[in-house]
Amino acid sequence: MSYYAVLGLTKEPFSSSPDPAFFFRSSSHMQALTRLEIAIRLRRGLSLILGDVGTGKTTLARTLLSNFPQEDGFAFHMILDPSFESEYQFLLQLCRLFGLREPYKSTLDCREAIEHHLFHSGVAEGRTTVLLVDEGQKLSADMLENLRVLLNYETNEFKLLQVVIFGQMELVGRLARLKNFIDRVALKYIINPLSEEETAQMVRFRLASAGLDEGRTLFTPEAIRAIHRFTQGYPRQIALLCHNALEALVMHERAVVDETVIGDLIRDESRWLHEAAA
Ligand SMILES: Nc1ncnc2c1ncn2[C@@H]1O[C@H](COP(=O)(O)OP(=O)(O)OP(=O)(O)O)[C@@H](O)[C@H]1O
Ligand SMILES: [Mg+2]
Repeated sequence: MSYYAVLGLTKEPFSSSPDPAFFFRSSSHMQALTRLEIAIRLRRGLSLILGDVGTGKTTLARTLLSNFPQEDGFAFHMILDPSFESEYQFLLQLCRLFGLREPYKSTLDCREAIEHHLFHSGVAEGRTTVLLVDEGQKLSADMLENLRVLLNYETNEFKLLQVVIFGQMELVGRLARLKNFIDRVALKYIINPLSEEETAQMVRFRLASAGLDEGRTLFTPEAIRAIHRFTQGYPRQIALLCHNALEALVMHERAVVDETVIGDLIRDESRWLHEAAA
């Protein structure tokens, strides 16, 4: 029997995968989501979502995808890792994503095919094509330049391609040097970590989504305070610590996670980090 079933849960509450079903809408995540949806519907072109490691960028991207469920008129495509060997490889991948299958032999061929496709689907068919790029900090200057060219395809009223780049904060420094690119950003948003109150809400939300009975508590308020203090409100860290706490709960046959359980885990973690650094 898995540890979570012992606790009366139907699913793993603190899995590390970016599952939209476990996405808690903190004020920062909610704002990012709402503003992205508006930018996409208005076809404003380029949006940039930045955040430190583990703030929920990939989960946000997947949630955005699931918020446009099979809606007619939107074609979403996602690049999970934009580390391409050359601009030709990058453009070829875009052609494949857009369903363009001819053997394009050069970057120019690819660009022409993409432009034709975007024009046809955007103007003749009235569809909005959206490209989500995760791990945006891995975009090379060449790839950014290619995206800039694609963002130039437009009608008098709107951009033919909507691009949303999700990236870690190091991307800012690189973009700042590319004035041509940064000038085109219609929406910039930085995801903030969660407050203590939101940390409590996220833990409750994920437990409820995993089937915890209403009214049952698995974490004391003191435990939540300690979790927030240690993780600084970073969602991945919160999820990891909560996962370990529930495992400890089951192993030691205790009823709730209190400050002591969290304190022990934090000490183990700090010892491990200390030894790994030595
Ligand atoms: N708003 C949220 N509500 C609930 N869980 C979240 C939220 N945001 C992130 N998480 C959880 O945190 C973990 C990391 O999220 P995610 O992979 O989306 O972060 P990231 O910003 O893409 O990280 P990286 O910078 O390493 O790519 C996942 O387990 C995810 O479920
Ligand atoms: Mg990510």
